[in-house]
Amino acid sequence: MNWDELESACRDCKKCALYETRRKLVFGVGPRDAEVLFVGEGPGENEDLQGEPFVGRGGKLLDDMLEIIDLSREKNVYIANIVKCRPPGNRDPLNTEQTACIDWLREQYRLLRPKIVVCLGRIAAMVLIDEGFKITRDHGKWYDKDGVLFTALYHPAALLRDPNRKPETFVDLKEIQRKIGEVCERTY
Ligand code: URA
Repeated sequence: MNWDELESACRDCKKCALYETRRKLVFGVGPRDAEVLFVGEGPGENEDLQGEPFVGRGGKLLDDMLEIIDLSREKNVYIANIVKCRPPGNRDPLNTEQTACIDWLREQYRLLRPKIVVCLGRIAAMVLIDEGFKITRDHGKWYDKDGVLFTALYHPAALLRDPNRKPETFVDLKEIQRKIGEVCERTY
């Protein structure tokens, strides 16, 4: 499957009930050859309306965070979510919904072949890094999975709720920038 085939199959997905209540599919955004992949948890209301990940207040903060380390969704980072349809009322995606949806992300990962994966928040980190991941304890740590480097940051929504976490996130971001310099081939 190529990218367009994957997106179109994902649009037709009925593997869980979320397709019934979502407005737009939120497949992902960014260059389809980016070396860095950011993964959030699932679309909120603004994303559901616009069909793009991280477009509300949290999205603006994420774009600012990316800019600090010379990344942008227009140029060099791909952004996706664990679930592609909005869980109603902004609840966390259920385990069954995550399981039903994860193969779409797996296929995106296979096509993209990123060098670095950054999980945004606890849910993405628990799915992609370790079930026992604790975001307060483990953010900023690095995990090598078959040669691909994984790490996690506080979710932008968590940073909006608790700005005291921004300084540690800045340190984590600078470390991501350093790793990019080490393992990514294209200059940023
Ligand atoms: N939160 C997420 O985890 N993903 C989005 O796309 C928007 C908000």
